[in-house]
Amino acid sequence: MEPSDLRQRLERAGQAHVLQFWDELTPGQREELRTELQALDLDELGGFFRKAMAGFQQSCGQEKVDTRMEPVPREVLGSATRDQDQLQAWEDEGLLQIAQSRVAALLLAGGQGTRLGVVYPKGMYDVGLLSRKSLFQIQAERILRLQQLAEQRHGSPCTIPWYVMTSGRTVEDTRAFFGKHRFFGLRAEDVVFFQQGMLPALTFDGKVILEDKGRLAMAPDGNGGLYRALAAHGIVEDMGRRGISAVHVYCVDNILVKVADPRFIGFCMQKGADCGAKVVEKTNPTEPVGVVCRVDGVYQVVEYSEISLATAQRRSPDGRLLFSAGNIANHFFSLPFLRDVVSVFEPRLRHHVAQKKIPFVDARGRLVQPDKPNGIKMEKFVFDIFQFAKNFVVFEVLREDEFSPLKNADSQDGKDNPTTARRALLSLHHRWVLNAGGHFIDENGSRLPAIPRRAHPGKPEARPAGVHHNLKDAGDAPILCEVSPLVSYAGEGLEGHVAGREFHAPLVIDENGVHELVRNGL
Ligand code: UTP
Repeated sequence: MEPSDLRQRLERAGQAHVLQFWDELTPGQREELRTELQALDLDELGGFFRKAMAGFQQSCGQEKVDTRMEPVPREVLGSATRDQDQLQAWEDEGLLQIAQSRVAALLLAGGQGTRLGVVYPKGMYDVGLLSRKSLFQIQAERILRLQQLAEQRHGSPCTIPWYVMTSGRTVEDTRAFFGKHRFFGLRAEDVVFFQQGMLPALTFDGKVILEDKGRLAMAPDGNGGLYRALAAHGIVEDMGRRGISAVHVYCVDNILVKVADPRFIGFCMQKGADCGAKVVEKTNPTEPVGVVCRVDGVYQVVEYSEISLATAQRRSPDGRLLFSAGNIANHFFSLPFLRDVVSVFEPRLRHHVAQKKIPFVDARGRLVQPDKPNGIKMEKFVFDIFQFAKNFVVFEVLREDEFSPLKNADSQDGKDNPTTARRALLSLHHRWVLNAGGHFIDENGSRLPAIPRRAHPGKPEARPAGVHHNLKDAGDAPILCEVSPLVSYAGEGLEGHVAGREFHAPLVIDENGVHELVRNGL
């Protein structure tokens, strides 16, 4: 398109200011800007903005949702602790579905990871495990192991296709990383990358923000951009061709995620669910986590900021919080449901508005870092579609077994950071070894207590060579014990390696055997 056409189109949409530095741009920059602008549907963008702002203003003026909220009824709730007698049956069902190659995993990996603050996709992050594996590798190996378990159980080879949603911010590095690591042992044709959309950040009156003289401030359109992306790339059709009937959708940053968890899949399928959410019990009323509940009879996730403290503190007769189903962005969808979402429901969703401090160039072309919100980003959320489910179920699992997200960079006393993620995994694997009959001993040969004593404040956790976190740990350092997902998916199959044996930490159990790193001089 010629710049004059482009200008007219922008003028009609009230966005011609994005060309204000056109004369100063190099030919290359002009080309990039032109390409970026041509890809933007300005009418659609204006529609998104009006709809999102109307929803935002309505929600600001609204009462809190407290009076309309109802907790998840027990009959649609499965629990890893309260329904132990049924766990085996659910797992058997899930493994059968996996063995028949009817289950897919779908990874949401399009986020920018701003809080973690690295320049590459979060899935490539190494939290400092003994193996130095990245989040992507851990997840890939869990898929490999699960395929193996299903094959062993049912005697036929199977595949769990892995759909990886990236964005303009993560696509190139993610693809290159998978390529470099030869898809971590998976077959390349069973890993399907697709890209979500991006939207420009806008001022409060809907003007596109320039982050540079020739570049729009673009950001991915939220993890709920998934549904538009599924449609744009024919992913549901691909799933159909492969014979998939159930999809497990999850976030890249949860180091403990049980990818394609057979128990969760089996539970949802036995209940005949079209949509399911895995949750962890919220135990602290003020914990900033969204809760799964019904509002006006329809399932949704209510953010902590949307309810009052009094409601957050309400308890059931058994002493638990009434609204205890903490959302961990870990979902089950049947394929027919996903198909309906993509073709019918998605256009009904409106973007959420997040007010942000968005760096911009001012009228004189100077870069400004605002110190208070100066605009909005529009995002959809993956759980926005719960409202359309006809048979919604909830599966409650133990946080220490399944949820430890990597959100922030390390900081003293920080939360959801590389140190907490690393410790969560090491501590889970330590428990696996103990449960399989192994023991840990100290340098004098005395058995270490199963529950480690608190380390002296300030005493650093022993770390493998080269691990760069230089913070002092304030205690609770776990025993260094890591089990490769290629050996065990959820703690199974370790007895042969560890029962009745005593180990010095650091201990690694992988496909090559059991390694005591210090004793072996590794
Ligand atoms: P978060 O909302 O925590 O965002 O994403 P983030 O990008 O990882 O981190 P911040 O907020 O910039 O610090 C939760 C999950 O949703 C994915 C992320 O990759 C992560 O798996 N996500 C988020 C997307 O896939 N697309 C998006 O547009 C946003």
